Amino acid sequence: MELAMSKLFSPIELDGAPLLHRVVMAPLTRSRAEQPGDTPGPLMREYYAQRASKGGLIITEATTISPSARGWFGAPGIYSDAQVEGWKAITSAVHAAGGFMISQLWHTGRSSHVDVTEGPVPVSASVSPAYWEDPTHLTSTPGGWVQPSPHRALALSDIAGIVEDYRRAAVNAKAAGFDGVEVHSANGYLLDQFLQDNSNHRSDAYGGPIENRARFLLEVVEALVSVWGPDRVGVRIGPGGRWNDMSDSDPDALFGYIAGSLNRFGLAYLHVIEPRVQGNIVVGEDRGPVATQRLRTIFDGKIITSGGFEPDTAEAVLDRGDADLVAFGRHFISNPDLPERIRNNWPLADYDRSTFYTFDSKGYVDYPPYEAVSQVA
Ligand SMILES: Cc1cc2nc3c(=O)[nH]c(=O)nc-3n(C[C@H](O)[C@H](O)[C@H](O)COP(=O)(O)O)c2cc1C
Repeated sequence: MELAMSKLFSPIELDGAPLLHRVVMAPLTRSRAEQPGDTPGPLMREYYAQRASKGGLIITEATTISPSARGWFGAPGIYSDAQVEGWKAITSAVHAAGGFMISQLWHTGRSSHVDVTEGPVPVSASVSPAYWEDPTHLTSTPGGWVQPSPHRALALSDIAGIVEDYRRAAVNAKAAGFDGVEVHSANGYLLDQFLQDNSNHRSDAYGGPIENRARFLLEVVEALVSVWGPDRVGVRIGPGGRWNDMSDSDPDALFGYIAGSLNRFGLAYLHVIEPRVQGNIVVGEDRGPVATQRLRTIFDGKIITSGGFEPDTAEAVLDRGDADLVAFGRHFISNPDLPERIRNNWPLADYDRSTFYTFDSKGYVDYPPYEAVSQVA
């Protein structure tokens, strides 16, 4: 039965893109960029083309802004000419299917290893040896999963250079044919390491009070807006997110401040990860979408919510008016035709966690669309 009255399948304009539905593909790191060079190739093109839909929005996997921003073996970049060419082929395929695509820009900060950066020591807001000493923190390197390398605190004089790396990546995203950019400021990567006070112990203009901890993110947003204009820039945050050893003494105040400060730009959207999901794991199965509801009262623009949504709870969060769009992560991995499945109330296929971050086509481009499944059966 089709969801005829569904909000999920009502049109909305986002990023200047006339979307025909609100089932967004969430950013999903899948480690399939070609090596050496972290270049998006034909395999990635096939994967994204499979997931493109008419009037649908795809947010790319986290994409590194510079060689020293890298921290995950197999993740693509957007700083070299070859990477821009690779992405061009992908955005063309998504556009040919009538879809839209946003590039998620990433600096991994301390969640990295010198084998991935190929030399440069990982950086963070402050030095936290407990992070690299904890055997449960693992990062993907050419030699497999290992504990991150020791990191250093960014000097005050380093910060402008990283803001410039974001700006250049945004210019490249334009050349690559994207429809906009999203700042990855969640899940314990560099910008989140500056926001949350368990990882930021600085005493300069980027540490201490919330306004200082948010400064780096706001400077990055300003740089991206200078390239794209505000209505093509989104920001992803994880209020209360603890993934990657994050925590904050007052997350409501921190993320409320961020949502309020972003209002002055008039951005395309705020993308909120519900705290019931930590990274790629659900930790609060029965918890409702609390962060979205709260930030709705603070942020003036459109909200994409994400984290642990099913088709019915996604419909409900839109019905309540708490969000404008819903991003799905894991369901999009195993259901390339997710919008059609939801629209028609077809069953969803299960994902295989063991192939999330492997390096070939298995578990990547071999999940069939529903109609193909039903014809074979
Ligand atoms: C395999 C995998 C990779 C992910 N990679 C990213 C990423 O690159 N950037 C990001 O912001 N979130 C990433 N996430 C988090 C997802 O975007 C999403 O927030 C999370 O999966 C919860 O949504 P879901 O319950 O619909 O899966 C990843 C999640 C998974 C499962």
